[in-house]
This record gives sequence, structure tokens and C-alpha cells, in this order.
Amino acid sequence: MCGICASIGKENEVQDVVLGLKKLEYRGYDSSGIALLGDEKISCVKSVGQIKNLEKKIDKNLCCPVVIGHTRWATHGVVSEENAHPHISQDGQFAMVHNGIIENFEKLKTQLDVCLYSQTDTEVFVNLIASKTGETLFRLLQAAKEVVGSFAVALIHKNENKIFVAKRQSPLAVAVSKTKSMAASDISVFAGKFDFCYILDDNQFAVMEDGKVDFFDENGKKIQKNPVFIGDFDFFEETLQEKYFMQKEIKEQPVALRKEFFKYFSECPNLDFEALKKCKSLHFVACGTAYHSCLLGAQFVQQFCKKPCSVSIASEFRYARQTFSKKCLYVFVSQSGETADTIACAKLVKEKGCKVMCVTNVPYCTLEQMSDFVFPTFAGKEIAVASTKAYTCQVFALLCFALLLSGVDKKESLKNFVKEFEVLPFQEKLLKEICKFKKVFFIGRQQDYVTALEGSLKLKEIAYLNCIGIAAGELKHGTLALIDNQTLVIAISTQERLKEKMESNILEVKARGGKVLLLSNLQHNFTPEFRIDLPDFEECFMPIVSIVPLQQLAFFYSLALGFNPDKPRNLAKAVTVE
Ligand code: AGP
Repeated sequence: MCGICASIGKENEVQDVVLGLKKLEYRGYDSSGIALLGDEKISCVKSVGQIKNLEKKIDKNLCCPVVIGHTRWATHGVVSEENAHPHISQDGQFAMVHNGIIENFEKLKTQLDVCLYSQTDTEVFVNLIASKTGETLFRLLQAAKEVVGSFAVALIHKNENKIFVAKRQSPLAVAVSKTKSMAASDISVFAGKFDFCYILDDNQFAVMEDGKVDFFDENGKKIQKNPVFIGDFDFFEETLQEKYFMQKEIKEQPVALRKEFFKYFSECPNLDFEALKKCKSLHFVACGTAYHSCLLGAQFVQQFCKKPCSVSIASEFRYARQTFSKKCLYVFVSQSGETADTIACAKLVKEKGCKVMCVTNVPYCTLEQMSDFVFPTFAGKEIAVASTKAYTCQVFALLCFALLLSGVDKKESLKNFVKEFEVLPFQEKLLKEICKFKKVFFIGRQQDYVTALEGSLKLKEIAYLNCIGIAAGELKHGTLALIDNQTLVIAISTQERLKEKMESNILEVKARGGKVLLLSNLQHNFTPEFRIDLPDFEECFMPIVSIVPLQQLAFFYSLALGFNPDKPRNLAKAVTVE
């Protein structure tokens, strides 16, 4: 993963790059660094941990016309200052920041006669560039041909007042004004500074100068690119009244859903439903939380449209030996629209000549650009690594999509739901009880099984608790062996038609001494040890209602253990590597 940011100009390039890195911190926060070019000398400042640690090392008044910066999510090599970017070639001529993975770096390393100081693939890449001869752009073009894998890079040469950038399978955009040029992994970095930007396609290169940028193809031929108007984006700066973004984002869910309802039913989504209705089946593909949204999306489409649906985890789908059907609509769900596995699957589907629809939260993201149909979500910017409002907005979006596709008119009940849905305060006293259990299982059936999966992912992700979500009916096929009086089973039960089945499964747990926390809007014939009463809504809305207390549980659990719920260890918000 990682984020890169580079700036050349006569303004506050150092501060702008650091600010840019802060905006990109969602892409990784293991370490960060900048390289400065001044008086034909390259110098670096690096730090382990969040950007605020780097910031402390940089003089606030430091000026430099050429700066490249990086925030890292470790792929090759441990988290350390040596492995932090930028990396300098052994001859001291070049410095480079890189987002992506060079898959053949071990092989390239053996071909280079250099002594490396880090364990990174990037140091190999920059030395490969240095080993070439000729102009810097030419060297970069040559090296890019030899590397296998993904990259978005910014490169500087110690004698040139220029920044060279290149992209393959990792996002990169460039913006230019009269006084400066910037490059970044994400266009939110340009907000407030530029009116237009250019989004690079794979195997495109650019040479940035002060107030000027030229684009090139992989053969070094100059190309023209069309600018994208930045003013179209909803880039309001995130301010934080609560201490954590996750807390803020949990609270924002009702407002986000209202906005989404308005966008779908008052402004009408810009989708050709007549064309979409011709599809005979749907195949949903995503990763992590977005995969859970897909599981619900498939249930909604099956229920309302009576079309067969299947769901795949993107990292599995891309290597499955499967057949593709032109009559199937392939739906890719992704908050960021930059997830490497999801993008690879969409690419594969397109290559087979099939139709791609995406459900994404970030306008102009990579996934959106390659899709035939776009059904956006309107969660607003989500910063905490653990997805909350983006998930509920995806679920609501997929419900609305299924209804619009089916022609079933449920506008009034959707409207009433978004009007009445609220985030209730979490019963913090429950937390004390729950924290006593070191073994936690989440169980549910059908849509509640999806909530079980998502609830357990949240708890794993930010409280580092080893817990699993399991289909309630599957317990007796193995997992029941783990249940004892030290076990907490969180049971979600929101479907009247499956109530008795859930009760049987819960009684099986209780018979083995397991303790039960029941999340339900229904009347049950047993007494659980703990209970969270859910507000009562129509069944199809309950996945949105029931996940909220589980998001809160994970949040408060994480805090109780002294962790930062916004930035869980080993993770990043956008997973742009395979
Ligand atoms: C959610 O809490 C996770 N951080 C993660 O599973 C995430 O949903 C997944 O990486 C997919 O991301 P995307 O929606 O941006 O594709």
C-alpha cells in the first residue's frame, strides 16, 4: 500500500508534501519520510510511526523547491528507518518513493552490483534506474520495462530541478498551476490548491517542473492528457469533535443514509436499469467488509429480483478456474475503489468481454474508471481503518439497487426507515462483562450470519481479539467443541421466520455452559445472560440496525484495551497491493 506525494515549486513545498502525506496516511502509517533537493544535494528525513513523528523532525520554516514524500505500509522488510522511503541509489544520484510491489526484485538484485542498506524492493528499483545510462526519463522508462509488479513512483535526480513520475497498477495523479506541480496517490491532496488534475493511466510517465508538466507513454512518446475538474469533488476537510474518527463515523450513519436515499430517489441514479434488467444473473466480488456487503446484496437481489446470485472474495475469484458469462452482471463493491484484488478481478471480467458494475464511495477512483455501470455510495470520506458508515451505506445502496432493479416500489418504507434510524448510545456497562471473555463467537442465520461475520471482523481488526463469525446452524458441525463456560456467544436474531431455529442453536450453546449476548428485535423464549434490544424495523433493514451496536462494541473494547481504534496495527485503509 503506501502513499506518495511530491511537489516542485516556489511555495511551501515541504509543508505541502507533509500535509499531503497526512491526507494519505490512510494508505499506511508504519513509517514516513521525505527527500529534499537543494543545491544539487539530496537529503532525507525519515521517521517510524505516524506522520506526526516525521513532522516533529522537520523545521516548520524549512524551504526547498523539490520535495518527494512517502507514508509506508510495510511489504518488504520490517518497520524501520532504513526501510522507510525515500530510498537513495548507491551512487547518491537518485532518490525515489514508491507505492506498489516489485515482484522480481530478488532476481534484479542479483543482477545489480550494489550493496543495499534496506530490505526493500524500492531500493532495488532505484538502483536499477541508476544502473542505466542516458537521460533520467529514459532510464526510468528502461527500468520500468524490466520490473514486474505494480508501482507509482516519484523520482528525483540530484542535478535536475524536476520530478519524474510513473504508474502501473497503483494510483497516481498530477496537478499543475502557474507556480507549482504536485503528484499524489490520491487527488484529495490537491484540494484547495489546484482546479484541475490529471489521472495517470497504467504505463504512463510524467516529468514535472515548476508550473509545467509533460506526459509520456511507455516508449517515451509525448502524449496529451485530459484534465479532470477537481471542483467536482466533495473534499471538505475532516474536522474532529469526537476524539476518534471511528466514533464520528459511527454517529454519522443516519445522516449518510438519508443523503443516500435522497440521491437515489430524488435525484435518480444515473444508471440504465433497462440494460441492467437484461442480465440473467449477478456475481458480486469484493474484499473484507465490502465482501460482507456483497453477501447481503446477493440476498436482496435474490429476494426482490428473483435472479440467481453468487458472491466471491476477490483474492479467490482472480485465481479461480471459472467460466464467465456475458449474461451475468459482475458487481464490484469497494469503499476506496483502489483495492488491488478487486481491481484485478474487474479487469479480468472486462477482458472476458463481460459487463462490470461498481459500487464505490470515492469518485473517480480506479474501479469507477474501468466500470460500465457506476452505482455510487454517499458515505462521505471515511478515515478510520475499520469501515462503519461505508459498510451501512453499501448495504443500503445494494438494497436500493435490488429494489430499483426489481421494480418493487418500497420508496415509502425506505424513506420512513432513514427518517427513524438512529444510533443509540452503547450500554458501556455491558462492556465490562464482555471484556471478561477471551473466547467470543458471533452466530446468526442468513442476513444475521453476515452481521456475525462483520461484527467479528470489527472486533478482530481493532481490539485484536481472536473471534469468529459462524453460521448458527454450523456450530454443531465442529465449533461447538470449543464452547465452555469461558465462552461468550454473540447471537444475532432479527428474522421472525428463523427465530425458532436460532433459539435451538442458542440453547445448544447454553447447554454447554456458554454465555449468550443476544442482539434482537424479537421476543424470544429463553433468557440470555446479556441482551441488546434492537429497534424494530422491517427485516430487510435489520442488517443496518444490528451492526451498529457491534461497531460500538468493537470501538469501546479497543479503547478499553488502550488501543487506537482509528489506526489498528498492521493494517491500512486502502489495500492497494495483492
Ligand atoms: C474494513 O473494516 C476493513 N478495513 C477492510 O476489510 C476493507 O473493507 C477491505 O480492505 C476492502 O476495502 P475497500 O472497500 O476499500 O475495497
